[in-house]
Amino acid sequence: MTIDIETARAWYTTSDPVHGFDHVLRVYHVAERLALAESADLEIVCAAALLHDAEGSATSGGNEGRRSHHHESAEFARQVLETEGWPEPRIEAVLHCIRAHRFRDRSEPPQTLEAKIIFDADKLDVLGAIGVVRTVAYNVVIEAPVYVEPSEQFLKTGVEEPGEAHSSYHEFLFKLSKVKDLMHTPLARQLAEERHQYLADFFTRLAAELCGEL
Ligand SMILES: [Fe+2]
Ligand SMILES: [Fe+2]
Repeated sequence: MTIDIETARAWYTTSDPVHGFDHVLRVYHVAERLALAESADLEIVCAAALLHDAEGSATSGGNEGRRSHHHESAEFARQVLETEGWPEPRIEAVLHCIRAHRFRDRSEPPQTLEAKIIFDADKLDVLGAIGVVRTVAYNVVIEAPVYVEPSEQFLKTGVEEPGEAHSSYHEFLFKLSKVKDLMHTPLARQLAEERHQYLADFFTRLAAELCGEL
């Protein structure tokens, strides 16, 4: 019944530096740690971690191409788990974790402990040193700049002016700087605080250097 890591490896491209199998493995290990701390259902958490980005999450698609990857991955997960003979209530529990993992779509917020753990584990991977690497890599892959000075409008509303690029620094302001406040579980909250500080220090320093202040 347990989904095998080697089986899952085949669902992902290893050449995607942001949403490839390395990311999935990090989410898997952090989610397992959170699940043990919270006495959550380990089989559901591990299956959801391995399946959560399995369809439509390729970084090269950009935000538009990745818009519904949580739904596409949930559909893929249903096929896999039905083939494995999982009972319907446990399939639905995994699918809820997958559908609820996106920052950019809050229409189905995480309601179960297992879904909260998958959300937390996935979001911890955008913070800290790995958060810096992934955020910069994402923009390199989609050929967007790492730093552009944000417009007044973006700073006030989070919406770019016409023609304004969404740089990695914009992503830090728009999303990454808020992620630590979205954690659900105590251990994730603790890890997020520390990782947030590292990430914030990096982007604050980057902006200062590129503005000529340092
Ligand atoms: Fe995702
Ligand atoms: Fe993910």
